[in-house]
Amino acid sequence: MYFSYNSLEFDSFRFYNSTSLPDHNVLRLGRKERKFRRPRAVFPERQLMTTRRTFLKSSAAASFTAVLPRPASFAKNESDADLAENDVVMRCCVMSDVHLEASPRELERFRRAIRFANEYSESQPYDKLDAFVVVGDMTHHGSKEQLELFKNELDLGRKPGTDAILCMGNHEYIKGNRELWESVLGVKANARYERNGYQFITVSPEHGNSNDGPYLYAIEFLEKELEAAYRQDPTKPIFVVQHIPAQPTVYGSYEPDDWGAVDLFDTLQKYPTVVDLTGHTHCPANDPRCAWQGRFTAFGCGTLSEMCLGTEGDGRFGVWLLPESLEYGQFFMMEVRRDDSITLKLYDLATESFFDMVYYVGKAGDIDSYVYTNDRFVNSEKPTWREGTKIKARPNWREGTSFDATQKRTFVTLEFTQAYCKDVVRGYRADVKRYDENANDWVELETRYLESEYFKRDMPETVRFILGAVDDARYRVEITALSAFLLESDEKLSVEFKISPQLMLLS
Ligand SMILES: [Fe+2]
Repeated sequence: MYFSYNSLEFDSFRFYNSTSLPDHNVLRLGRKERKFRRPRAVFPERQLMTTRRTFLKSSAAASFTAVLPRPASFAKNESDADLAENDVVMRCCVMSDVHLEASPRELERFRRAIRFANEYSESQPYDKLDAFVVVGDMTHHGSKEQLELFKNELDLGRKPGTDAILCMGNHEYIKGNRELWESVLGVKANARYERNGYQFITVSPEHGNSNDGPYLYAIEFLEKELEAAYRQDPTKPIFVVQHIPAQPTVYGSYEPDDWGAVDLFDTLQKYPTVVDLTGHTHCPANDPRCAWQGRFTAFGCGTLSEMCLGTEGDGRFGVWLLPESLEYGQFFMMEVRRDDSITLKLYDLATESFFDMVYYVGKAGDIDSYVYTNDRFVNSEKPTWREGTKIKARPNWREGTSFDATQKRTFVTLEFTQAYCKDVVRGYRADVKRYDENANDWVELETRYLESEYFKRDMPETVRFILGAVDDARYRVEITALSAFLLESDEKLSVEFKISPQLMLLS
């Protein structure tokens, strides 16, 4: 997927999350966004010198996790994974949506990702990088020049013994086609590989449309290769490498965003050892919905280009692409151990550090042990507020930005400290009411959804937004936190205020 960001209009009687505001509106408030301390870059100065065990311990002490604890399910998985520290038998760098030549930043990001994957691998007890796995949209348009650039950069970064396992994305069809892609990259669009005893099956879409059966033409091929891989060893994971995720699996592949392909699910779920590595959505892979397990396993592998967020439906979170998300990129370092367990560590290119989370598949095929199930939409933990959290409100007119003397309206900035959750906090719902003196009752004015910016490894500590308010009216704002699975906090933050002519907090 790829989107253009459309600036929101600045409507004085809507209110805005700081992440949705054009920069100049944030700056006019005269305050700098306070962020957590930027996590110390664990690479290369530190990470290279540590084992994964010490790295995890030191990460846990970082300021980010001190405020937003690492999810318990991930923590358990990390300790499970950590037991097999020295038992890695295969390592791959899995990246998606490189979009070379979308802008200059993509090439620089791709180079840094390759460099990190190599240097990190060399620093580990198992010091090999067995493959770069790129799950499509390696270029922005799929032209010959862009594909050659991709191949050149990848080949420069590949050490002897490092494979390239590639499939096409929808963007490879904008100015290209399958024949061109295969001839420039020197690989088949649909293929099966074996690496260190593990099977990889690549499958590419037939065209650039996501939602009209782009893989239908290849289902027979996929069935045949899955069967062959499964027969070879029914106890080992089979890695399927394809761009458009199967619907309905990972975040973004199902409604309301619906970026999934409808033609893969039935085939994949015949083989419970499948681990489906996908891209296309550009969704942040630290969102736990990017790990999915049913009768097989699937991962959304993040993006090296424009991070996108789901809209979540029902008028929620209406912006797919936040302005700041342009600066963020993620990819996985995937390791398989002697017991066939799989660990995916998510790396953030913006802060050059790993997220404090690890996805872990203990035994592909043992579906009763799967934890990344749809049950999380019902039974995962709700967000909670840290003790003492209050909404702070302050008027803006002193900064000379917003006060409109003729219409007797002003803007009020509201801010609060982020809630926390064992899964990430997806965002917040703000319910605004105004008191109707005639009816002697509160009237609903607006409901707005606010971003937590959880895709950032250095996400801001506070959420800030702006409310248009008229003189002498009483306002009540209530904030509910939402988990990644859209479960709501039991408690709401609440504030009441009035502009008359100073801002008066009423509760
Ligand atoms: Fe893409």
